[in-house]
Amino acid sequence: MSTFQELLSSWASKLSIYEKQEAESLVSWLLEHHLGWRRTQILDEANEDTFPSKLFEDFERLKTGEPIQYIMGKGPFYGREFLVSTATLIPRNETEELVHMIIKENPKAGLKILDIGTGTGCIPISLALEMKSPEVFAVDISEEALEIAKKNGDALNAKVTFSACDILTQTPDVPELDILVSNPPYIPEQEKTQMHRNVLDFEPGLALFVSNDDPLIFYRTIAEKGKQLLKSNGKLYFEINEKYGKEVEDVLKNLGYSDVQVLKDLNGKDRIAVGRS
Ligand SMILES: C[S@@+](CC[C@H](N)C(=O)[O-])C[C@H]1O[C@@H](n2cnc3c(N)ncnc32)[C@H](O)[C@@H]1O
Repeated sequence: MSTFQELLSSWASKLSIYEKQEAESLVSWLLEHHLGWRRTQILDEANEDTFPSKLFEDFERLKTGEPIQYIMGKGPFYGREFLVSTATLIPRNETEELVHMIIKENPKAGLKILDIGTGTGCIPISLALEMKSPEVFAVDISEEALEIAKKNGDALNAKVTFSACDILTQTPDVPELDILVSNPPYIPEQEKTQMHRNVLDFEPGLALFVSNDDPLIFYRTIAEKGKQLLKSNGKLYFEINEKYGKEVEDVLKNLGYSDVQVLKDLNGKDRIAVGRS
């Protein structure tokens, strides 16, 4: 028999693919998920013989580098839990910053909003729940991702209309928008070599990668369609690859967007591009 603190340290030391602090937080997340354990119970006794076998199975998965959100089937975003699957990207902190900015900048009631490439639906669902009675639409090319997004919308009681659309070949039938938002795939294939295995091996390539030949394809296409879909003075919000701030800014300016800005995330990297139609 050991205490939870001893157990935490011993299990974390077996997660050698992660730094010590990250390993401890992953193990404590897993213990909380399976045992309802809290960090305040640090000195309580922990008897491994009574642990459910699923906890040990999940710990083995963690050792392979599989992201904990896929193991638990859920992840946090903007104060809520979202279901995730291998068809969806795991929602990121940078995207919470984008959502926060849209909420703060747009206090008006009844705004019409479209999210392109919705994944788990984390962006439109958060906006639907945090803004004043907006009318929210969201599209994705992946039917599996849309299924998860719809489940999230239902579970969180958010009014969002989800539909399938390949934005590179189709235009969603949602005109007169006040806000168009997208966090599209933005990693050129050539950057794969610099990425962590736990992203490469587990997250869907469809959500992450664009061809090296045209890494701005989603930004250009969405900004062009935004010109038709947004009301005059409507706002376009993009999450961007830190390496392409200037290029995305030029795309927006060349298409005639005004008040174009590229903003940094909390890590000081170019992460959000905005413009007015
Ligand atoms: C970077 S992920 C963003 C997911 C989610 N919005 C988020 O922020 O967590 C990009 C999303 O775009 C979708 N996608 C990829 N190609 C697409 C296309 N041609 N048309 C529409 N959506 C597409 C992917 O399925 C994926 O869900």
